[in-house]
Amino acid sequence: MCGIVGYLGRSPARPILLDMLAKLEYRGYDSCGIAVQGNPLRVFKDIRRVKELTELVPRDVPGTIGIGHTRWATHGGVSPQNAHPHLDCSHEIAVVHNGIIDNYQELRAELMLEGHVFISETDTEVIAHLLEKYYQGILQEAMESTIARLRGSWAMVAVAAKERTLVSSRQGAPLVIGVGSDEYLVASDAPAILGYATSVVYLEDGDIAAINDVELSVSRQGQQVLQEPKDISWSDGATEKNGHEHYTLKEILEQPAVLRRTLVRYLEEKNVGEGPRALFQETTDDLTILACGTSYHAGLIAKHVIEGLLRIPVSVINASEYACRPYPPATLAIAITQSGETADVIAAARRIKEHGARVLAVTNIPYSSITTVADRVMYTDAGPEVGVAATKTYTAQLAALFELVRSSPRLRPQAKEILSAGFVELPDMVARVCAISADIEDCARFIAMHERAFIIGRGVNLPTAYEGALKMKELAYIHAEGYSAGELKHGPFALLDGQTPIIAVIAADETRQAMLSSIHEVKARRSPVVALSYEGDEAVEKLSDFVIRLPKATCPFSAVVNAVALQLLAYHAAKIRHCPIDFPRNIAKSVTVE
Ligand code: F6R
Repeated sequence: MCGIVGYLGRSPARPILLDMLAKLEYRGYDSCGIAVQGNPLRVFKDIRRVKELTELVPRDVPGTIGIGHTRWATHGGVSPQNAHPHLDCSHEIAVVHNGIIDNYQELRAELMLEGHVFISETDTEVIAHLLEKYYQGILQEAMESTIARLRGSWAMVAVAAKERTLVSSRQGAPLVIGVGSDEYLVASDAPAILGYATSVVYLEDGDIAAINDVELSVSRQGQQVLQEPKDISWSDGATEKNGHEHYTLKEILEQPAVLRRTLVRYLEEKNVGEGPRALFQETTDDLTILACGTSYHAGLIAKHVIEGLLRIPVSVINASEYACRPYPPATLAIAITQSGETADVIAAARRIKEHGARVLAVTNIPYSSITTVADRVMYTDAGPEVGVAATKTYTAQLAALFELVRSSPRLRPQAKEILSAGFVELPDMVARVCAISADIEDCARFIAMHERAFIIGRGVNLPTAYEGALKMKELAYIHAEGYSAGELKHGPFALLDGQTPIIAVIAADETRQAMLSSIHEVKARRSPVVALSYEGDEAVEKLSDFVIRLPKATCPFSAVVNAVALQLLAYHAAKIRHCPIDFPRNIAKSVTVE
C-alpha cells in the first residue's frame, strides 16, 4: 500500500527520491508525488506510475532534501489533489503520511474555522495545516505539537521551505532511517534505502526523528533517545530481478536457498531459552493462529502438524473475522504475517492480548508493526519479497512453524528425528522442483486455456490446494477453487465438465488412496486431471491426463514441495495469459487497512 521516502544529503534529491519510490512500487499504489526542498518548495504529483512522474519532474530541479510518496487511496479518490505530498496554506511545509488519522474530521473543522483552506479530501492534509499552525521556525517543535493532537496511526516525514531538516514521526506504521555516507534516507520499507544506506535506525512508536546536515536525533516523549544504527542485513541485489523476467519467478527459485539458510540458522540456534520457541513450548492447552490470505494457509498447515504431532488443539482464525465472532480466549496466539503490517492481523493480535493471550509473531520484516504488539517474534529469513503474491515468504513461514513443532519437548523422539531429517532434505527437494520448471510450464499451457479449475487435496495438502488456488487467482486470473477432494461429491460435482480441469495434489501419505478414488470419480465426470504426484507413482500416471512428477516428501514437507510446484504452475499460466505477474491488478503487498 502507501510508501514513504525522504532524502537529506549532498546529492540532488530528485533522482534519489524517484529511484526510492520506484523501489516501493511493488507495494501497490495509484498515485505518487515528491516535494523537493527550496524556497519555494517544489511539489510534483501524478496519478499514473513513478515512470510518468519521473518524466514530469524537470531534471534540473535544485535541492538536496526532499520527500516522496506512493499513495493507495483510502480517504478520497485518486486525484492530483489527494496525492501526497500535502502542503499547508502558505506552501512552506510539505508532508507525506502513511496510516489513518482517526480524528481528522474534527481537526479539519477546527482548522477551517481558523481560516485554513483545504484542497484535498484526505486525512493527511490536516497534518500539513497543524504543522503550519504550530510552526515557529523549528519544524521539529511543530511536529511535537502536531502529533499531540493526532489520534490514529502514522508514519510521516515533513520538510519546510526555509530549514535544512527532515522531520519524521511514527505511530503504528513503520518507518526506517538509513544512514549513508554524508546522507540520510527515510522510508516506510527497508528495500527503498538499499543501495544508499549502510546502516539503519528503526523508529519506535511515538518517536520523532529530526535530521539535519550534522546529525540524526531521535526523541521519545520529549526525551532524547540514543539510537545506534544497525547494519543492513539485506543486500541491494536482493531487490533486483537478477536476470529473471519477473520478481515472482526469481523469488520462487530462491526458495531452496531460503530454506537452506533457515535450516542452518534454526539448527545452529541452540539457546532458545528466552525466544519464541520458549514461549511456544509453554503452551499445552489451547492455541489460536491469526492470519490472512497466504499466511492463513500456513496457519492451517501448522494446525494439522501441531494437532497431529503435539496434540494441542489449534483454532485458525482469519484475522479479519476475529472481531466478528465470540471466540474463546486462548493462552497463546500465533500471528502470522510476512509483512508484519497487515492491519487485520495487528488489530486481532491486540484484541486477543486484551483477552489475556500472549502473542508470538511470525514475520519476515524486522521492526514491523506486529513486532510492537507481540510478546515474542519468530523471524523468517526470506529476504525482501517484491512480487505482490507471497511465494518464498510462505515456505519460510512453514519452515518457521515446523521448527516451533520440532523444538517442542512434547514431540516424541521418533517424530523429532523424522522432522529433523525432513528439514535437512527439504532444500534439495525444492531445488528439484525448481529444476522441472519447464515440465510444469507444459502443464500450465493446458491450464491457461481454461477460465476455471479446482485444486483438490487432503490432509496436510488441503491448505496447499487452497494456497495453489489463491496463486492461480491472483497471478493467472483463473477462477481456481481449492477444495477438499472428499467434499467435491457433495455439490461441486455439478460443475464438472470437460472445461473444468482438476489439479490433484497427491502426497505419499495416508491420504494417497483416497486421492486416487477422488481422481477416479472426477475422470468419470469427464474432467481432465493434472496430478501433482511423486516420481514413480504408476497408478497416478495411468489415471491422469498430465502429471507433474515431484520428489517424494514425507508429511509435512510434501506441503512445501507441492506449494512450490503450484507456484510455478500459476506463474507459467499467468505468463502464457499475459498477466502482470509481479503486480496483479487491485491488490497490494501489505494491506494496512482493516
Ligand atoms: C497472497 C498474499 C496475501 C497475503 C495477505 C496477508 O499471495 O500475499 O494473501 O498473504 O495479504 O499478508 P501478510 O502475510 O503480510 O499479513
